[in-house]
Amino acid sequence: MSTWGNTDMTVPLLQIDGLNAWYDRSHVVQDLSFHVNAGEIVTLMGRNGAGKTTTLRALMGLVAKRRGQARFDGREFLAEPAHTRFHKGIAYVPEERRIVPGLTVRENLQLGILGQPGKHDLTAIVDQIADTFPRLKERLDQEGASLSGGEQQMLAIARAMVAKPRLILLDEPSEGIMPLLVHEMFGLFGRMKAEGTTLLLVEQNVELALRISDRAYIIDQGRIVHTGTGEALLADREIQERYCAV
Ligand SMILES: Nc1ncnc2c1ncn2[C@@H]1O[C@H](COP(=O)(O)OP(=O)(O)O)[C@@H](O)[C@H]1O
Ligand SMILES: [Mg+2]
Repeated sequence: MSTWGNTDMTVPLLQIDGLNAWYDRSHVVQDLSFHVNAGEIVTLMGRNGAGKTTTLRALMGLVAKRRGQARFDGREFLAEPAHTRFHKGIAYVPEERRIVPGLTVRENLQLGILGQPGKHDLTAIVDQIADTFPRLKERLDQEGASLSGGEQQMLAIARAMVAKPRLILLDEPSEGIMPLLVHEMFGLFGRMKAEGTTLLLVEQNVELALRISDRAYIIDQGRIVHTGTGEALLADREIQERYCAV
C-alpha cells in the first residue's frame, strides 16, 4: 500500500507541530502541537485572549510572524502564502462574517466559488448548499446584509462550503447569536460532519461544542494545557471552570 497522501489512514488530515505566532514582539501562540483526523470535529477552547483566533489565523497564513510545522494531508504548508489554503481544500470562517453589502444571499454564496479552476454549475451548487441551509434557501434573493446576525453567520459558513472544503476552520460561530439559531447551527455542524467535512472549531459555548466534538484542546496563555475526548471534557467541570470561563 502506498504511504503517500490520504491513502495512508494513519496520517491526520491536519497535523500541527510546534506552532508559534507573534504580533510584533508579543509571543501569542507558543509551541502548539495538535492534530485533526479526517472526519472529526475538534474544538479549541480557552478564555478570551488565550490565543485561539491567532492559532487559526497563523494556520491560514494571516499572521506574518509564524514558525513551526503544519501539514495538511501529510504536506507542509505553514510557510506558504495565505491564498494557497483555498486550493488545498481548507476553508476559514473568521469571527467577523464579511457578508458583502449590496449582494443577495445567492450572490454571496456564488462568491464562494470564485477563484476555483474549472467550470461550475453555479445554480446547482447554490441549490445543493441551500438544501443544507433551509434558512438561507427561503432568503436567496434577499440582500445578505439584511439577514439577522445568526443568519449572516450561516451564510458565511454556507459560502465557505460552496467550494466543498475538506477542512473548515470556524472561529466562534455562535458568538452573539440567539439560542434558537445556535442550536440550529450546531445541528448543522453534525450534518457537515456526516457529509464528510472535517471541522476545527473555536468555541466559547463549551457545553454545546463538547457535545458534538470528538476531541478538544484547551489553550491557556498560548499553550495547550489539556486535551481529551469531548465526552471526558464535558464531565470535567473543574477544567472547564479553570480554563474556559469567559
Ligand atoms: N492584531 C493584534 N495585534 C496585537 N496583539 C493582538 C492582536 N490580536 C490579538 N492580540 C493579542 O493576542 C492575544 C491572543 O489573542 P486571540 O488569539 O485573539 O485570543 P482568543 O481568540 O483566544 O480570544 C491576546 O493577548 C490579544 O490581545
Ligand atoms: Mg478569538
